[in-house]
Amino acid sequence: MAAEFSSIESVLDDKQAGKLVHIRGWVHRKRDQKELIFLVIRDSTDLIQAVIKKDSKAWKDAEKITIESSCELSGKIKKEERAPTGYELQVDDLKIIGLAERFPITKDLSEEFLRDVRHLWLRSRKLTQVLRVRSEVFRAIHDFYHKEGFTEYQSPIFTTQACEGGSTLFEVKGFDRKVYLSQSWQLHAEAGIFALEKIYTVAPMFRAEKSRTTRHLAEAWLAESEAAWLDFDGLLKQEEELIIYVVQHVLKTCKKEFKELSRDTKDLESLKAPFARLKYADALKKLGKKWGYDLTDKDERELVAQLGKPIFLTHFPRDMKAFYMKPDPKEPKTVLGADLLAPGIGEISGGSERIVDEKELQKSLKIFKLKEEDYGWYMDLRKFGSVPHSGMGLGIERLVMWLTGMPHIMDVVSFPRTLYRLSP
Ligand code: 4AD
Repeated sequence: MAAEFSSIESVLDDKQAGKLVHIRGWVHRKRDQKELIFLVIRDSTDLIQAVIKKDSKAWKDAEKITIESSCELSGKIKKEERAPTGYELQVDDLKIIGLAERFPITKDLSEEFLRDVRHLWLRSRKLTQVLRVRSEVFRAIHDFYHKEGFTEYQSPIFTTQACEGGSTLFEVKGFDRKVYLSQSWQLHAEAGIFALEKIYTVAPMFRAEKSRTTRHLAEAWLAESEAAWLDFDGLLKQEEELIIYVVQHVLKTCKKEFKELSRDTKDLESLKAPFARLKYADALKKLGKKWGYDLTDKDERELVAQLGKPIFLTHFPRDMKAFYMKPDPKEPKTVLGADLLAPGIGEISGGSERIVDEKELQKSLKIFKLKEEDYGWYMDLRKFGSVPHSGMGLGIERLVMWLTGMPHIMDVVSFPRTLYRLSP
């Protein structure tokens, strides 16, 4: 068999018709007839129907080959309207590389079973498309922050402080003192801005979430940014620009993926700044609820549907949010924090202006019943040239759910990790 292989995508072209090509991939489907065997072959780029005639030397191997076997094929390309991708490979030569055992995934299997065989289900057309969109989202986030002059910066994963409350901390066994997996890059990033001013990361975070929902994982990825001299309004503007940049990028680079996922992208195409801004108190009025009410994901989606665009939900009661958020000087019962709510999902990011003043931070630690001695180094940052600063964390999986239209967070990650699912 020839060494020069073409991608399937590249041979689905009128210019290739009549030409001899060599492709390789896996058997996606197989249909036997008396005189013909039809294989649908997939590689990472696309699908093509391959036809093997009974009188060809490939017939014996075609009879033997099974679903998900890997193989190399040579043959001529023919335009064929009835084939799934419009072209057909008329096979002269077929070489089986890895003959597959009976593939356990067939039609109509439960979600639970598909999660048990995730290492095999990863090959599904749906997951392939989603993972490609996800990859373009990562690329766009890096491009955006580099374009804006941010430096990529890493925080440790082992931490001794809670950033987002003690209830979801993952304790790590094996040390003689309490150590946790990081819930967020933020606290150590706040130290970094005194050197680098504008920083970002794309990194995993860990939360021991006990609830079973369609939008929580125990291990998820966050794009986070932190910037010196940036106020709350500046933060929201920057976040809007980031989201629009990512959306424009995937619209350009993932047309094929969206088509295969049947994702109608009209809503993404018409997305523009500014997003809606809604104070918590005004959201309560719309929902007919009282101060202190904790919005559910259903409430969030309802609000977005009402306003018809993403919403920055702002000015939450101080004790409802995190200890580091700056109270609004004009409405000190509330904080300069914002959750971004996206259509069909609800919250996809959380950000705020940070407390800069040492005394204010001490007061906040008390309100949240956190011990000052656990936050000694973090307190230091308020003693040595403190500056106004703001930052945010964007949940990559939730963003990808929105962009791809997937209904469950487990659909947008290769190997989901939850309280109930830690393998494969
Ligand atoms: O709102 P959160 O908790 O904010 C922070 O972690 C801040 N320290 C970020 C910062 O300011 N640098 O989390 C940020 C986002 C949420 O809006 C949500 O999209 C996502 O992270 N998120 C989760 N995604 C999946 N599974 C979970 N268990 C998540 N918890 C939060």
